[in-house]
Amino acid sequence: MSVLTDVTRSTIGKKLLNGLTGLLLCGFIVAHLVGNLLLLVGSEAFNSYAYTLHNLGHGALVPIAEVGLVILFGAHAASGISVALTRRRARPTGYEKKANAGGKSHKSASSTSMIITGGVLLVFVIAHVAVFRGGFLAPREYAEVMINGRATHDLYALVVDWFNQAPTVGLYTVVMLLLGTHLRHGFWSAFQSLGATNPKYMPIIHNVGIAFAVIMTFGFLMIPIYIFLFVDPVAGSTMIGG
Ligand code: HEM
Repeated sequence: MSVLTDVTRSTIGKKLLNGLTGLLLCGFIVAHLVGNLLLLVGSEAFNSYAYTLHNLGHGALVPIAEVGLVILFGAHAASGISVALTRRRARPTGYEKKANAGGKSHKSASSTSMIITGGVLLVFVIAHVAVFRGGFLAPREYAEVMINGRATHDLYALVVDWFNQAPTVGLYTVVMLLLGTHLRHGFWSAFQSLGATNPKYMPIIHNVGIAFAVIMTFGFLMIPIYIFLFVDPVAGSTMIGG
């Protein structure tokens, strides 16, 4: 009996951690999307933004944020996998049904596939950071751009080159749709894990989750598709500022 209580308690703790880290990651992707939308404005706007970001706090803010992101992604993935495994083991006892009881059933396809979409997203994030942050497999060498008299790397050109390739755009389209599926269920589920179980607010949270997932999916999707259709690979370097 006491073993069962310990298991339940630790599952609740992991769900809390999963919900909290999930919502913090939602905050990150909102900020990331807003910054990335400058890719639609052009080279000057995006490279200046990236330059400013990397120089915040005398260059210390981005590395600190990166450590925070690694912790967030790691804790979110580990707690998610652990809760899913516990739930799977407990399924024959009817725990699953009980956990999802209460009004309209939200046990949709996205609920059961959270672990799969989450796994794909984790692999995506690692490859994505290696390519865009680390310059791994860069399509060519880039001349530096001058921003406010300082040379910095041409991140805009790197992104534009990648999104001028149909396979990259195809891959991003699939992954962004999976991100939408993950967010659609995850947003609502996070609030539930954090104790927002009042039947009055559940439909509202559910609908906000759907709206959030749709906005994030289309926001992120717009970027590769727009670049693929309307932006030519950038040649040479640009001078920005004095
Ligand atoms: C079309 C969609 C996206 C574009 C164009 C994009 C673009 C970029 C770029 C250019 C960087 C490098 C930033 C820098 O060096 O300052 C970056 C980093 C990153 N992106 Fe994305 N991104 C997209 C979607 C996503 C999504 C959906 C996620 C998460 C689910 C994500 C997570 C990250 C992370 C964690 C980093 C590393 C941040 C850092 O190290 O500072 N990105 N992205």
